[in-house]
Amino acid sequence: MKIIETIKEMREFVTEAQRQGQSIGLVPTMGSLHEGHLTLMQRAKQVCDIVVTSIFINPTQFGPNEDFAKYPRDLTGDSKKAASVGVEVIFHPQAAEMYPEGYSSFIEVEGITGKLCGLSRPGHFRGVATVVNKLFNIVQPNMAFFGQKDAQQVLVLQRMVADLNMNITLEVVPIVREADGLAMSSRNAFLSAEERRAALVLSRSLKLAEELVAQGEDNALKIRSQVMAEIQAEELADCEYVEVYNYPLLQGITAITGKALLALAVRIGKTRLIDNTILEVK
Ligand code: PAJ
Repeated sequence: MKIIETIKEMREFVTEAQRQGQSIGLVPTMGSLHEGHLTLMQRAKQVCDIVVTSIFINPTQFGPNEDFAKYPRDLTGDSKKAASVGVEVIFHPQAAEMYPEGYSSFIEVEGITGKLCGLSRPGHFRGVATVVNKLFNIVQPNMAFFGQKDAQQVLVLQRMVADLNMNITLEVVPIVREADGLAMSSRNAFLSAEERRAALVLSRSLKLAEELVAQGEDNALKIRSQVMAEIQAEELADCEYVEVYNYPLLQGITAITGKALLALAVRIGKTRLIDNTILEVK
């Protein structure tokens, strides 16, 4: 497995792979790899000849008071994990390689970025869309793989690819969870033992909503308030948002018909965690 740090070298690798008629799958990440990331890479490996994963903690998607500086970094551990699932290349550029002095172009996806994480993290999706577009231009993948863990990110990127006529197939991989239900996240590493236990409130409250729907509840407001009550009952949890929107358009609803996205952002101590599920009334 190769670790490539410059755009020039990445392009040379891509040109050679394309010359040999090999298809390229890209898995963009910010590193500190866990089973969720590795599942994306394994899926990419099944359907593409060559898998490139990027490890780049993208400064433009972090707000000024967010955890950019302390976001976990572990290139040595990540390299071993990526190699173990057959990744051919890790693209690991420095920030100055991606955003040199004078950099001033950004991609703004309107509409769906005005809610959920887009509301609580202004500028976040502008940074995500911009860096993913740059990675697409550099790696020129046939396919790119993203996790449903970041449900809104997937919708924003699907919108960008459709709107800007990008010739790339996006594939979405379901949320990978720990045995006890906690959605895997690089940020779980920040949790103390007590916070780790408290963090189960996210998946537990999603389960509660799924059960309510299974019992015939379709009132989005009732579901939302029961989920909020479950989260508020956990002392270490501070709820940032709980929302139920129709899916995939993310419009406000009072009753669920068809598919709805139930999405949460909750602070456990200083750590912000997100999780979601698709509710379906048939
Ligand atoms: P990161 O948080 O490192 O996640 C990289 C990819 O892994 C994303 O597509 C994310 O949805 C997926 N992922 C993370 N945890 C997962 C889980 N438990 N189950 C399934 N998939 C999971 O998302 C980003 O990085 C960045 O915003 C990025 C797209 C790389 C742009 O900088």
